[in-house]
Amino acid sequence: MVALQLLVASSVASAALAIPFLSDGLTSSSGLFGRDSCPAGGSASCGNTTAVPNLCCFEYPGGLLMQTQFWDPIGPDSSWTIHGLWPDHCDGTYDSSCDPSRAYTGIGTLLKNAGQSDLVNYMNTYWTDINGKNEQFWEHEWGKHGTCMSTLKPSCLPSGSPKGTEAVLFFETVVRLFKTLPTYNWLAAAGITPGTKTYTYTELQAAIKKSWGFVPALDCSSGALNGISYYYNLKGSVADGQFIPIDASIKGSCPTSGIVYKPRTGGGGGSPTSSTTSGPAPTGVPSKFTLQAYTASGKQTGCILSAGTWSTQTCAQFTPKTASGGITLTSSKGPCGVANGVFSCASGGTASTFSTSNSGNSLLLTYSGSTAFSADSTPSGTVVSTVYTGGSKAQVLTLSLVAV
Ligand SMILES: *[C@@H]1O[C@H](CO)[C@@H](O)[C@H](O)[C@H]1NC(C)=O
Repeated sequence: MVALQLLVASSVASAALAIPFLSDGLTSSSGLFGRDSCPAGGSASCGNTTAVPNLCCFEYPGGLLMQTQFWDPIGPDSSWTIHGLWPDHCDGTYDSSCDPSRAYTGIGTLLKNAGQSDLVNYMNTYWTDINGKNEQFWEHEWGKHGTCMSTLKPSCLPSGSPKGTEAVLFFETVVRLFKTLPTYNWLAAAGITPGTKTYTYTELQAAIKKSWGFVPALDCSSGALNGISYYYNLKGSVADGQFIPIDASIKGSCPTSGIVYKPRTGGGGGSPTSSTTSGPAPTGVPSKFTLQAYTASGKQTGCILSAGTWSTQTCAQFTPKTASGGITLTSSKGPCGVANGVFSCASGGTASTFSTSNSGNSLLLTYSGSTAFSADSTPSGTVVSTVYTGGSKAQVLTLSLVAV
């Protein structure tokens, strides 16, 4: 399958040539993206032994590229969905939200205006947000990760390129790469399909390796497989370079055995269950943590107070306990629960069951299968905001568990 990957990668340049702004004649005389095309023999990202001067042709510092996919409770029956394409540093650390001035909104419109309506249709099936907030999810992925890609800086594009062209190239590349990574089919080819059977990490890993040739990282939430990351180095630009598959440099959050690959539920997650706050400390969750809020643009903005509201001032500490189907949380005020869609912690309150999901290097609080929380507005000064579960309010946020 190495050969297939290289074949696919080498077709990237011709696919990029089909994008409208290139066929508009903007680059026909000046070369691809306003620069000479990237030398075929250049170093792969993370593989250079001397400094590479032209970062339009060499992804740096985010040279460890990961195509990440989800297996969520909702989505197509026989396909995983796209999470994103992340430019980690070669050592696995990463930058995020590198250029807020290019954190574009209206990605769907941007793509349609670039003649990519088919791409938008595809993304609405295969690059979906668990709460149906696809547009916000795409904005988040671009703003947080895409703006960190050196080879997609506007200065790497021909002068006169429409604003946002580099984001168009990003979405095209992510989808193109995703189409070469049919996780569902690869697992099915090894007899691994959604159901109640459990698998070892090694079985899942071997199934992917047999088809892809390399080892991915596998993520789980409460012992259920829900994420996969395929690792690459890159020769040339994210727009038209050659993605070179490599073994994942980390294992991911799945346990070594007892991993379940759950069928899609088709719904928006089960109804909340209440439970007590007794029970042992859960594994894989810090024994005491703060809940840091990240807005849709990927910016860390304040955290959760002991009453469960969102503030830019003080972070409360939460203690988890194992509960049936997940964890419960308690702050100094009392147990945390969800009532009428509002998250709060209060003395004598009813605890709800939460779980956690791995996202990149973060552990996110998850409720009813979703990591999305939202508020009517972002807090500032002494003003705090009520936190709702799900992404239906104006300001969508995720809550990252940070050990204290
Ligand atoms: C690789 O290239 C980058 C970008 O020029 C440079 O900062 C880095 O030091 C280089 N790595 C090595 C090992 O020379």
